[in-house]
Amino acid sequence: MSEKAKLILPEKTIELPLFTGSEGEKAIDIMKLRQETGYVTFDPGFGNTCPAQSKVTFLDGDNGILRYRGYAIDELCDKSSFEAVSWLVLFGELPSAAQSAEFAAKVAKYSRLPDGILKLYDTMPKETHPMVLLSIGLSALSAYYPDLCDPKNKEQVEEATACAIGSMLPLVSFAYCRNQGRAYVYPVDPKSSNASALLKMMFGNLFVVDKDVEDVMDDLLILHADHEFNCSTSAVRLVGSSQANLFASLAAGVNALWGPLHGGANQAVVEMLLAISQENVDPEVYVSRVKQKDSGSRLMGFGHRVYKNYDPRATIIKKTCDKVMSKLGTDDPLLKIAQSLEKAALADPYFTSRKLYPNVDFYSGIVYRALNIPVEMFTPLFALGRLPGWIAHWREQNSDALNRIGRPRQIYQGAVKRSMT
Ligand code: ACO
Repeated sequence: MSEKAKLILPEKTIELPLFTGSEGEKAIDIMKLRQETGYVTFDPGFGNTCPAQSKVTFLDGDNGILRYRGYAIDELCDKSSFEAVSWLVLFGELPSAAQSAEFAAKVAKYSRLPDGILKLYDTMPKETHPMVLLSIGLSALSAYYPDLCDPKNKEQVEEATACAIGSMLPLVSFAYCRNQGRAYVYPVDPKSSNASALLKMMFGNLFVVDKDVEDVMDDLLILHADHEFNCSTSAVRLVGSSQANLFASLAAGVNALWGPLHGGANQAVVEMLLAISQENVDPEVYVSRVKQKDSGSRLMGFGHRVYKNYDPRATIIKKTCDKVMSKLGTDDPLLKIAQSLEKAALADPYFTSRKLYPNVDFYSGIVYRALNIPVEMFTPLFALGRLPGWIAHWREQNSDALNRIGRPRQIYQGAVKRSMT
């Protein structure tokens, strides 16, 4: 940290250390800013704020690059599996066969949910959104595994990691079963991939999992595995910074993910496409509508805080979408609407000047629909994929010497001191 920035304030000038990340991203260290000057930084939406250094994921939004622990996502989709990528994201390296087997055995101990959690699911109204069940289920793990809740105990953290990974698959699948009134069944083959087990738990053991469909699900899970300091991961980190246990922190991630501006966009995209189809709106007219700020609507699945180029996940999902459609012989009219919207938006200066491109959620819902997965399950599937990332960040922060409770400052603009008399 030899280079410094000079900050000239009305009262004084100070020097602030500069540093760069391993991929050349530049930062100004303002840790002592308030202490030395009395000033805080004002940054709504944290667009310029980096609360920690991280080694999990590199994202270059201008050039559309996404790498987990140095490996590009397209290479991971081509050559790896969600299980191996989860290990990579969690522990930093691709696993050996022995490491994979050891971790799978550890996770398997938790692959059956405590009966009480299933009862909890059953007490909720039938039409409860699966994200609610997921949030409740993850929180409830703290009650069933109180001995895995001490963030300062290394063994407990390792075991809690396996427990969260093992529990998530049935938590997600059975949220669907609860929603659809189906029985809770575990896969007959305990060695199934997450992708295959998920489909078996959702649709029953008689459901024949096509290899190409399994590969597509696997790719979708890989593509969602991490995305550095997004809204839900930041929620997990913020809650974890108070030394809340892993399960409680993950439940916060689920709740943050649900919003339509974040992971909930995959459901919102398909709902938007359905509305366009039902009301027979011309896609070009719809695109003009979302440009009006007072319309209250946005082109869902478009735009991203960090990507100012095509989201690399969307590029892969778009190809996957074509593959799945031709394999299953599905002809979803929503795909044509999505393509027309994309074409209209990318030809419109409103979108190009603001660098708004399709994001991960634009085509993922169409793939899920082709697999007969209902819209309410889209965001839970995102959560299933994102789990390793959330845990990796929670663990990284938990062992970061610079970790302090997350506690931003405000600039108070309310009433000044007054009296009731
Ligand atoms: N449709 C229409 N206009 C948009 C859209 C959109 N989808 N996205 C951004 N804009 C416009 C804004 O109105 C704003 O215009 P202005 O400069 O004239 O005021 C400009 O583009 C910048 O938008 P911001 O909201 O400031 O960008 P921000 O980085 O805060 O938001 C977000 C990013 C939330 C993703 C936004 O693009 C959006 O709402 N997209 C639709 C929802 C969506 O697809 N979310 C999923 C994101 S991916 C993920 O989280 C998994």
